[in-house]
Amino acid sequence: MLSRIIYTSTISNDITPKEIEKILTKAQSNNDKKDITGMLYFSRNKFLQCLEGGRVSINETYHTILNDTRHSNIILLNYEEISQRVFSNWSMAYVPESSLSAPINLKYSNSTIFNPSEMSSESIYKMMLELKDVLTSVN
Ligand SMILES: Cc1cc2nc3c(=O)[nH]c(=O)nc-3n(C[C@H](O)[C@H](O)[C@H](O)COP(=O)(O)O)c2cc1C
Repeated sequence: MLSRIIYTSTISNDITPKEIEKILTKAQSNNDKKDITGMLYFSRNKFLQCLEGGRVSINETYHTILNDTRHSNIILLNYEEISQRVFSNWSMAYVPESSLSAPINLKYSNSTIFNPSEMSSESIYKMMLELKDVLTSVN
């Protein structure tokens, strides 16, 4: 059953950009094997991640992610069955902080600073769709 998990978390203090690169490479190779697709957005000190795939697969991966000490304050924002993927072309797309972050954050929330716990799941979903457009225009 095709399903989607969206969560947010706060990066741990000692994590460098190099470490994020390692997380991403590992995520992409693991997800590829499990037919998981999705996106990881990073803004200031917050992650927003979307995992799409089989119900069992995404739950297994989510449980692994929950135990990862490289982030904390993990908050589940949305879990649902879906009829189609948004990120079918990406084993894990990455959207880092850029000059586009502040205007996109402002468009979907009350501030230029990304604060997903203050956002509705509808805003988060629409923001993810816009972040996908950023990816498509970069690639
Ligand atoms: C923010 C964040 C996102 C992650 N995303 C994924 C992911 O999409 N897929 C994945 O397999 N691991 C992801 N990980 C890494 C897992 O927590 C874990 O380190 C990894 O799955 C272990 O893989 P291994 O058992 O093959 O060594 C993520 C970790 C963090 C901190």
